[in-house]
Amino acid sequence: MPTHTNGVGGVLFGGMLVQWIDVCAAVAAMRHCGGAAVTASIDRLDFLVPIRVGDVVVLQAQVNYAGRTSMEVGCRVETEDPRSGERRYTTKAYLTFVALDASGKPRRIPALLPVTREEKRRHASAEQRRRERLSLAGKAPRNEAEVPALGRRRKAARRA
Ligand SMILES: CC(C)(COP(=O)(O)OP(=O)(O)OC[C@H]1O[C@@H](n2cnc3c(N)ncnc32)[C@H](O)[C@@H]1OP(=O)(O)O)[C@@H](O)C(=O)NCCC(=O)NCCS
Repeated sequence: MPTHTNGVGGVLFGGMLVQWIDVCAAVAAMRHCGGAAVTASIDRLDFLVPIRVGDVVVLQAQVNYAGRTSMEVGCRVETEDPRSGERRYTTKAYLTFVALDASGKPRRIPALLPVTREEKRRHASAEQRRRERLSLAGKAPRNEAEVPALGRRRKAARRA
């Protein structure tokens, strides 16, 4: 809508899209961990095509990887022309959320059990990105072997 533009030719304000991505990905994270989660990091974002007033913005998010208390969520954004139905790929982002308990401390989350070939591929890629992300942040990743297989495993990745 016009209120979402940056004032230059009816193009969507980039910060607005970042907010929508954050909300969409947070919903997927919260559905996986069953409670509150905060955004710990957002990886690189490239805006490939402008989104214009009247376009429908389609956001899809999926939990790719679950650690002990954190989750990587992938969010894909497309625009859809409501007249033709034509879709264009706009951007994708990887976000990390940390589940918090009532006192605001990181809490353990259910493990993610990738089932399909695609889910396994996403899981392996996310694990690699997690290592790189934490290394860039100057933090050592917790040994994956320490991540417990909790009783309440969530099967396929959660979608929002
Ligand atoms: C995110 C936050 C809770 C992490 O706290 P912390 O003291 O670093 O916690 P820990 O060291 O125990 O790490 C907790 C998890 O976060 C992950 N993490 C910490 N910093 C991270 C970063 N910069 N990027 C990605 N993951 C990160 C750790 O790898 C760990 O994951 P794991 O348990 O799955 O192995 C804390 O930094 C925070 O509250 N940040 C502010 C969040 C915020 O205000 N967001 C915007 C509004 S929603």
